[in-house]
Amino acid sequence: MAGINQGVISNNKAIEIYQLHKWFRDNHVLRGLDLTIQAGTATAIVGGSGTGKSVLLKHMVGLLKPDAGSILVFGQEITNTSGRKLEDIRRRFAMVFQGSALLNSLTIEENVGLGLVEQRRLIRQQIEEVVREKLTLVGLRGKEKQLPGELSGGMKKRVAIARALAMDPEIILFDEPTTGLDPVMAEHIDTLIADLKNKLRKTAIIVTHDMDSAFRIADHICMIYEGRIIEEGTPAEFRNSQNPIVEQFISRFKRQGAVKAP
Ligand SMILES: Nc1ncnc2c1ncn2[C@@H]1O[C@H](COP(=O)(O)OP(=O)(O)O)[C@@H](O)[C@H]1O
Ligand SMILES: [Mg+2]
Repeated sequence: MAGINQGVISNNKAIEIYQLHKWFRDNHVLRGLDLTIQAGTATAIVGGSGTGKSVLLKHMVGLLKPDAGSILVFGQEITNTSGRKLEDIRRRFAMVFQGSALLNSLTIEENVGLGLVEQRRLIRQQIEEVVREKLTLVGLRGKEKQLPGELSGGMKKRVAIARALAMDPEIILFDEPTTGLDPVMAEHIDTLIADLKNKLRKTAIIVTHDMDSAFRIADHICMIYEGRIIEEGTPAEFRNSQNPIVEQFISRFKRQGAVKAP
């Protein structure tokens, strides 16, 4: 029986998407996309540039509304939800945006604590404590008073992850977390994301076109192509896919990687 010993945390569905369609004018980006994300797992969504990966993420948090289809978060339909109820669902998510999206005029600790200050649920001392804890977790203790401009791209990404964690979300979405980072830094970020799932039991969804990264961190890999998920499975299953589009995507990535390697 599949059980705790195999590291299967639960069979709860964090997100279910059925027949999702999205148009931007005459650009039919999502074309009947189906996808299920299990809670407590790390799922990588891969695919070429412009295939709708970021658009899909934005639908999951309710930042974009679909033209057709259904999106359930922990069993609750969000496509026809708004106001307070949508806010409650959104609180269960945090998103790490592609460019880190830090406020340059605020210090690192202010950036990490910003969401908590806005929520007004904790007193200052408690916020400082959470900020310190999360900065320690991402290996940036001691950088509290620095400004984003003083940090490398990889460090900024870690601040963005600390900020997401400060909100104590159940699901964390990462949009291209390793893009623009050197290979060593990319591996650090991947390790950090894997730890979030393994140690903190978070559900992680990682959108990436970096297959190395996907193979490193994901329990489950899905490939988006022409608006649908055309292949999904464990990294091993994905690597052995007989689908020519998947094979081509993986081999093209390998070739590009080989060219870039020192
Ligand atoms: N807000 C928007 N308005 C119009 N078109 C958009 C918008 N967001 C994304 N698109 C289009 O949707 C397609 C998918 O974009 P995106 O999800 O950003 O791709 P990627 O897979 O690279 O993340 C692209 O053709 C893009 O131009
Ligand atoms: Mg994108």
